Amino acid sequence: MKNRRNLLTFFLMVVMCGFLYSFIAIQDKKDGGPWDIPEKYKNMENTYKGDASLNKVGKILYLKHCRSCHGSKGEGDGAKAASLKTNMRSLKDAEFQAQPDGVIYYQSIIGRDEMPNYESKIPDEEDRWALVNYMRTLK
Ligand code: HEC
Repeated sequence: MKNRRNLLTFFLMVVMCGFLYSFIAIQDKKDGGPWDIPEKYKNMENTYKGDASLNKVGKILYLKHCRSCHGSKGEGDGAKAASLKTNMRSLKDAEFQAQPDGVIYYQSIIGRDEMPNYESKIPDEEDRWALVNYMRTLK
């Protein structure tokens, strides 16, 4: 009788540890929250809007620099996603797509925290807007 009780206690402990672990694992990822975008970027004009000649370069740059985290379709499921502490929004989301081009430019090139800064890796304005335009095709 006593042995069975010990076994039951042990079993309950294992189950509780499992719950605790999954709770910690879920808590592990935080939401970055709203972005604080400087006025200068908010009103930036995309002079390359609708320039189909940039489609290819936009895709190449995205696959090279961004896919590892954001995933090939922008759904936040890239190979490195699991090791990040911050949630990525799906780039296909209507809420994401509703943002002005300048805001997406700021998020992509300036970044914050775990979203890297690409000012020196992608120095060319045309390339930067090609990326923004490419993300528009993901919806
Ligand atoms: C090391 C992983 C990583 C790489 C590589 C990366 N990102 Fe991100 N990105 C993130 C994370 C994490 C966030 C969310 C940051 C936050 O909310 O604080 C994010 C957010 C964003 C956002 C805003 C959407 C949102 O979730 O709020 C855009 C747009 C974006 N990234 C574009 C890009 C582009 C374009 C590239 C390639 C040039 C890129 N990212 C490369 C990790 C990455």
